[in-house]
Amino acid sequence: MFTDQILTKIEDRLNELLVNNDNLVLLEAMRYSSLNGGKRVRPFLVMAAGKISQAQSAVLLDIGVAIELIHCYSLIHDDLPAMDDDDLRRGLPTCHKQYGEAMAILAGDALQAQAFVVLSSDSLRLDCAIKLKIINLVASSAGVNGMVGGQALDLLSTGTNLTLPQLQHMHIKKTGALISAAILSGYLAGANCKPEIYDKLVLIANNIGLLFQITDDILDATADTNTLGKTANKDWAANKATYVNILGLEKAQHMADNLYNTTIEMLRHLSQSEELTTLTHFVYNRSN
Ligand code: IPE
Ligand code: IPE
Ligand code: MG
Ligand code: MG
Ligand code: MG
Repeated sequence: MFTDQILTKIEDRLNELLVNNDNLVLLEAMRYSSLNGGKRVRPFLVMAAGKISQAQSAVLLDIGVAIELIHCYSLIHDDLPAMDDDDLRRGLPTCHKQYGEAMAILAGDALQAQAFVVLSSDSLRLDCAIKLKIINLVASSAGVNGMVGGQALDLLSTGTNLTLPQLQHMHIKKTGALISAAILSGYLAGANCKPEIYDKLVLIANNIGLLFQITDDILDATADTNTLGKTANKDWAANKATYVNILGLEKAQHMADNLYNTTIEMLRHLSQSEELTTLTHFVYNRSN
């Protein structure tokens, strides 16, 4: 897994879903912020979890790219001047730097809608009840109880000193929820989906989602701009409530280590979860 071949499939499918026959500026902006070398961790997580329940690869690909479209939208809006005010994303000028703020806002809006076009399409060959469950899960993870709600907490808590439970709550919402939805929707798509395994996977998925944002906070403080493809040390400069800024680098790293070890141990008891283990390792050990 995590092969160039699968990565090409993800890129091709995204390209196909955002085809710009009419040369629209809006679509150009959507393509600019989606076909620009993201790691594609969320589609890979969908596929790894779908492997556990034996889901079909074409179905997993479409669920994966739909979630990636939501993720790309969240990055465009996260970078806006009213939010994190970032100039660099994935090694390129941010969407609003390239296309202006209004077009960047609209590109994000349209990417989100496009995700639900993909998930609700007839060409996604899934039983309707399961499809609806996945749509509900992804929508919940993106909205007020998930990513957007977490982003609001992020803005409101800038410059404040959150407690550890508050910090964890914010991270689980702003980044964990969508990552968790990727894992759970991949699993739900398989014919061999079992409620008792699903319940275990909920806990594992929450851990992987939280680990992802703790690692993001650590990378912001330790990696350089070139490696990150986004401005390094931004969280310190903006006085953000992050694991590193509130707890210090050493404690933040210690928390990441513990969370990683606990999650790997949980995965050891889950059959056919080798790919999810590989991805958990990547989330923990990545360089950008
Ligand atoms: C960055 O996500 C933003 C967070 C949610 C922490 P990624 O690290 O997955 O970014 P890309 O998609 O690879 O650029
Ligand atoms: C972003 O968190 C979470 C999102 C929902 C996009 P950050 O603001 O830390 O993400 P980066 O570091 O800009 O990628
Ligand atoms: Mg942010
Ligand atoms: Mg940001
Ligand atoms: Mg960050």
